Amino acid sequence: MSKTIIGFLVLGLLAYSPARPTLKDAFKQSFLIGAALNRAEIYEQDARATAIVREQFNTISPENILKWGLVHPEPNRYAFEASDRYVDFGTRNHLAVIGHTLVWHNQTPKWVFADSNGKPLSRDALLQRMREHIQTVVGRYKGRIKGWDVVNEALDDDGSFRQSPWLKIIGEDYIAKAFEFAHEADPSTELYYNDYDLEIEAKRAGAVGLVKRLKAQGIPITAVGLQCHNSMKWPSLEQEDATIEAFAELGVKVNITELDIDILPPAVKNLEANATLSAERRAELNPYKNGLPEATEKALSKRYADLFGVFMKHRDVIERVTFWGVTDAGSWLNNWPVAGRTSFPLLFDREGKPKPAFESVIRTAGAK
Ligand code: XIL
Repeated sequence: MSKTIIGFLVLGLLAYSPARPTLKDAFKQSFLIGAALNRAEIYEQDARATAIVREQFNTISPENILKWGLVHPEPNRYAFEASDRYVDFGTRNHLAVIGHTLVWHNQTPKWVFADSNGKPLSRDALLQRMREHIQTVVGRYKGRIKGWDVVNEALDDDGSFRQSPWLKIIGEDYIAKAFEFAHEADPSTELYYNDYDLEIEAKRAGAVGLVKRLKAQGIPITAVGLQCHNSMKWPSLEQEDATIEAFAELGVKVNITELDIDILPPAVKNLEANATLSAERRAELNPYKNGLPEATEKALSKRYADLFGVFMKHRDVIERVTFWGVTDAGSWLNNWPVAGRTSFPLLFDREGKPKPAFESVIRTAGAK
């Protein structure tokens, strides 16, 4: 055979070598795979991230731009430019578009709870304001958003209701009302209750009670979202498994909505304390700024594979697994709870390359 022919054969083989599997293809029989997009990603200013989203994911969540403070910053002003772009990006790329979030205690301006004299609103006035907000935002994207995190983080760790302004002014039925208003605004959109640390038994029990009461009242709740801002040890696989099972038993779907794995040393969970951290303490809390040791990289891959093992076990009730970010460079964990750290919580590294954890997650897709 001439050298030229061999050359062509080799080139041909290279060109036809099977493409690297993608997350969305690997899990297409099991669940959707998603990522939360930040503002730059929504505006397609980050070409690398945009390419990863198009190639790897089939559902997106908005990291911030649909939260009250961003989409409705002042009493009579909505700011829809970024959210319109977000929904258009999803529609153009045939992605399932998620809404996050309608009623929350964070990133919600103080004016929401006050009248024009700065006095606390009455129950009726706050319900009216909540309804107007939900109708305007959900109504704008009617038929285009697959599902909404209607209420986010309404519970404390002991399972009781968080003492938020929503609870204090309206009372416990603010949750049911929010779901009713969202259903009214778009009867075909899915409605979710979303929270973190539902793996804590007491908190989970609180959420189970809440979902049962909502269902008993005929409130159309589709799914519970487990945020899954996990660490290397928390929660245990047994806890994750038991949590998914507890909600599945209620007849709702379970979504993994904000997945990431924090490998950095635990820090104060208090941003205000951040400014007062000594330089020494800061360095201690940021051990991998020059890269991750191989052993830690391996441990992260294993932790991811283990968690996906649990998700695969429950693939009949899990509709979506969404990562809270696209690449390590864009993760909120570089700045929370301590600003300016180098974090490694996702499947794509700072250059946008798939990490060993990506491969280990893909390998779980074939599990029976
Ligand atoms: C975070 C965003 O990632 C950050 O950019 C923002 O500064 C704060 O909020 N639970 C949620 C998300 O439901 O909305 C939060 O997102 C992370 C915790």
